[in-house]
Amino acid sequence: MSNYHIKHLEEYFQVYRKSVRNPEAFWEEIAEEHFLWRKKWDNVLSWDFSKPEVKWFENAKLNITENCIDRHLTTRGEKTAILFEPNNPNEEAQHISYYELHKRVCKMANVLKENGVKKGDRVCIYLPMIPELAVSLLACARIGAIHSVVFAGFSSNALATRINDSDCKLVITSDGSFRGKKSIDLKGIVDVALNDCPGVKTVLVAKRTNAEITMVEGRDKWLQPLLDEAYGDCVAEIMDAEDPLFILYTSGSTGTPKGMVHTTGGYMVYTAYTFKNIFQYKENDIYWCTADIGWITGHSYIVYGPLANGATTVMFEGVPSYPDFGRFWEVVEKHKVTQFYTAPTAIRALAKENMDFVENHDLSSLKVLGSVGEPINEEAWHWYNNNVGKNNSPIVDTWWQTETGGIMISPIPYVTPTTPTYATLPFIGIQPALMDENGQEVKGNQVEGRLCIKYPWPSIARTIWGNHERYRDTYFSAYKDKYFTGDGALRDGVGYYRITGRVDDVIIVSGHNLGTAPIEDTINEHPAVAESAIVGFPHDVKGNALYGYVILKEFGETRDRDNLRNEINQQITEHIGPIAKLDKIQFVTGLPKTRSGKIMRRILRKIASNDTGNLGDISTLLNPEIVKEIMDNSL
Ligand code: WT7
Repeated sequence: MSNYHIKHLEEYFQVYRKSVRNPEAFWEEIAEEHFLWRKKWDNVLSWDFSKPEVKWFENAKLNITENCIDRHLTTRGEKTAILFEPNNPNEEAQHISYYELHKRVCKMANVLKENGVKKGDRVCIYLPMIPELAVSLLACARIGAIHSVVFAGFSSNALATRINDSDCKLVITSDGSFRGKKSIDLKGIVDVALNDCPGVKTVLVAKRTNAEITMVEGRDKWLQPLLDEAYGDCVAEIMDAEDPLFILYTSGSTGTPKGMVHTTGGYMVYTAYTFKNIFQYKENDIYWCTADIGWITGHSYIVYGPLANGATTVMFEGVPSYPDFGRFWEVVEKHKVTQFYTAPTAIRALAKENMDFVENHDLSSLKVLGSVGEPINEEAWHWYNNNVGKNNSPIVDTWWQTETGGIMISPIPYVTPTTPTYATLPFIGIQPALMDENGQEVKGNQVEGRLCIKYPWPSIARTIWGNHERYRDTYFSAYKDKYFTGDGALRDGVGYYRITGRVDDVIIVSGHNLGTAPIEDTINEHPAVAESAIVGFPHDVKGNALYGYVILKEFGETRDRDNLRNEINQQITEHIGPIAKLDKIQFVTGLPKTRSGKIMRRILRKIASNDTGNLGDISTLLNPEIVKEIMDNSL
């Protein structure tokens, strides 16, 4: 029993050693003691990273919603499961009890069934942060359908690509969404997307904004009347531990977005166990993660992890700046939030505003502060620590990825002493390795390398939907028998890890993972553009912003540059979404290339960052002269 909740550093080291010496025995004990299984496993783990293949709790049977909802009904039926805080502070918050959540999930599950959804079918969820979103995920899980949530800030194009890639037959959306002062026509975006999605037969529409929308006869149905009619109980489908629970798309450095597939048993065990320890969750806590459920952070640490522990999880519909920059702190005070989990980009944005926004609120309920999505810079770390935590709430800088399913490297608050900018120690069961250029592991401390993981953990993604080969190539081919993360890291004198950032062509903008290739492809579709390259450069709020270098076709040279810039960004907004817009666009006559024709983004990155002191050897470039031209005209 004692291993489930780690309370001091000695215990962390002891449990960590145990989890590494005998991972199977360790995870078996955790799984056995803290979850509800319909049938136990025949084998705890089988794995082979060269295939790659990973199976946890083989042949075990369960339903994750029985673990997240049903088993709490006798002890916590009246307790708030989801605390919904609307965009508009004058609209009342909703306290959805476990009992109520059970009913709502069952009704939604029955509506899905009545609309032909069966075990293994994919359902696309394109909803704002309203209770129906969490309910939809759980309803899919209830009947064994695989949910594919698409963040409701993505464009119709991005939505269509994701719907088609995983062949979803049903979409759940809403008439619109509220974000601060704006309201967004979500249903309109879905309608455009579905012009290219012949496989979608049904669209269920939740009412949120009461906007005037068009309903397509025979395809679109209002959700509420169906829910009203539906039966309030639904027998949970018995799933295999390795049945897919969901698909979630993430950007790669090349090609189309990757549909990461997470399975049921291991994902449940790992997200629940990390939630308990990394947030030091206790029964009466009010836990708030500000992420959107459209990202992995929301899946694992708004929905599944907290609910598996019977927690109260806050779902916030709004934005940090509305009605003013005090909104986060107003909500913390109002609901007496105990754990607050957000992204460095939000912290940096709030740190720029008047201190009164923070100081006017009573934040004394806070016990743990979390950070996720990108490296947290030292200044932001101190601001968060001093002004929000009042030097009294440890900061957990949690490093992980869509692919890892759960937090991998992080302090355990009140257990691990923290150091700004360090994610500190690997979590229980996680075996990191730093690799050098020659593919050798760098041992010892005070070293730097590419971050890999040597041994499977329960919530590792099992494949990329429909493309297992790409899964192998992306994560298991760089280093033999190791999972490669794409990040660089250093390990200091005491063994703490500091993540130094991506080593591939993925750029993290405001905590959002953006691949260079899809954005460049979009830019290149503009009729006046011949070629382009984008790189990240430091930005004091977003962490990184995008800098685009664009070569125009001959006729494009005569066009107005600012109009072109607007058109390019408009095109990016339509194809990918506003998060991928470029902050700077420089028109160039060439791009630095190697003799094999590869764009040297390393050089462009330095120029864009005003870090031209040491560009390295450029003499081997195909066109070294272009570097000066680009530097001279740098924006
Ligand atoms: C990439 C994964 C995990 C949820 C959000 C992002 C970067 C994430 C940290 C951190 C430094 C971080 C990495 C990683 N990242 N957390 N605490 N410190 N970098 O998920 O979109 O899959 O992005 O985000 O570069 O590889 P994602």
